[in-house]
Amino acid sequence: MDLFRKKPLVAPLSDNAGKLSKTLGALDLTTLGVGAIIGTGIFVMTGVAAAQHAGPGLVLSFVLAGFACVLSALCYSEFASTLPVSGSAYAYSYVAFGELLAWILGWDLVLEYGVAAAAVSSGWSGYFQGLLDGFGVHLPTALSGAYNADKGTFINLPAVIIILLISYLLTRGVKETARFNAIMVVIKLSVVLLFIFTGVFYVKPENWTPFLPFGFQGVVNGAATVFFAYIGFDALSTAAEEVKRPQRDLPIGIISSLAICTVLYITVSLVLTGIVPYQSLNVSDPVSFALRFVNQNTIAGLISVGAIAGMTTVLLVLLFGQTRLLFAISRDGLLPEVLSKVSAKTHTPVRSTWVVGGIIAVLTGFVPLDRLANLTSIGTLFAFLVVSLGVIVLRRTHPDLKRGFRVPWVPFIPLLSAAACGYLMYNLGRETWIGFILWLIIGLLVYWLYGYKHSKLNRK
Ligand code: ALA
Repeated sequence: MDLFRKKPLVAPLSDNAGKLSKTLGALDLTTLGVGAIIGTGIFVMTGVAAAQHAGPGLVLSFVLAGFACVLSALCYSEFASTLPVSGSAYAYSYVAFGELLAWILGWDLVLEYGVAAAAVSSGWSGYFQGLLDGFGVHLPTALSGAYNADKGTFINLPAVIIILLISYLLTRGVKETARFNAIMVVIKLSVVLLFIFTGVFYVKPENWTPFLPFGFQGVVNGAATVFFAYIGFDALSTAAEEVKRPQRDLPIGIISSLAICTVLYITVSLVLTGIVPYQSLNVSDPVSFALRFVNQNTIAGLISVGAIAGMTTVLLVLLFGQTRLLFAISRDGLLPEVLSKVSAKTHTPVRSTWVVGGIIAVLTGFVPLDRLANLTSIGTLFAFLVVSLGVIVLRRTHPDLKRGFRVPWVPFIPLLSAAACGYLMYNLGRETWIGFILWLIIGLLVYWLYGYKHSKLNRK
């Protein structure tokens, strides 16, 4: 059994290239990136991170998590500009480390995008129902949340509907999706800026003392929590086969979308903890809450609308990434090949889109997954870690390969990136680790029972 068989570098490009249509440029990618990044993390999770972990030191948590992400983004950029193929970290490790690790990573990313989409859609549903309540419209309790006999909830209907709508949009075509995304991103950026420019006038510096009520460990735990807010730039690299000039445009898209969001996050967390004493931030809509706290109710309402738009685009990119990932894995034979069929009319993988949409709709409809955001983070951090080390390996094994973008100071930067991701993983709780390990064990079983036998490398 050869668990480390590697894919030759040319195969993915010559096999199926040209089947997905190439329509995206650097600006589309930056917009998609911002669309993927700003969402539940900043609009929902910052509250808990400030109240329970970091206090006003939340800003340092964002700096720390942002630091790990910037380093990883450099490594992703090198890979994406060298191997512009669908499948992101999965595809990179197939070349750098061989099939087994590639499969583990692919399986890990399936979990990442799936759980993240389910968690974000339930956050979406919460904000949406809040907005309906504001207009005096109330959903029947049974339809308002995932199954919970005590609360009388049966299905989270709004979450199911938004997932199905987005799946439909994704089957329509990539350019259509990018256009819709761009409109939503403009709305989302406007409300974030609106928050900053309104909130800054209500900042009371005394709210920033004590600055580190939970010490430095609190800052680190906060960083592990708000890491979720940065997830998404990695999904851009899954679009590689649909990019016009991937070697130039992918690094630009990845790095600029991350840079924009990092600056915004740092500013928002400073303003947020400056307006409201951190102890009061333990709410599900901290950003709107802060403005209600200073009686800016109209603006708080606008921010809720923007948060809904924001989470919609996050869902869009997560589902997009998920389908492209399955497309890539099944094209290699590790999952049933029907998942890599592309529609002749819309040039999108229609079947895998509906499979993904269907499974996530069921998950988000019936299972209370909103607590599982940390599982997404651990999965993503693991992928970042492997990709960072992969840069070093690929430089050794394929030194002459044409790279559109090169990480500076190799191996120092990739090693630092891997260490930063490992450190954040270490600081995610025990249940998160148990869930992650269980998922990996199931993945190994699937590989043993199906993937190894059906792999295209096997057939060759
Ligand atoms: N970064 C994305 C969010 O915060 C996943 O919703």
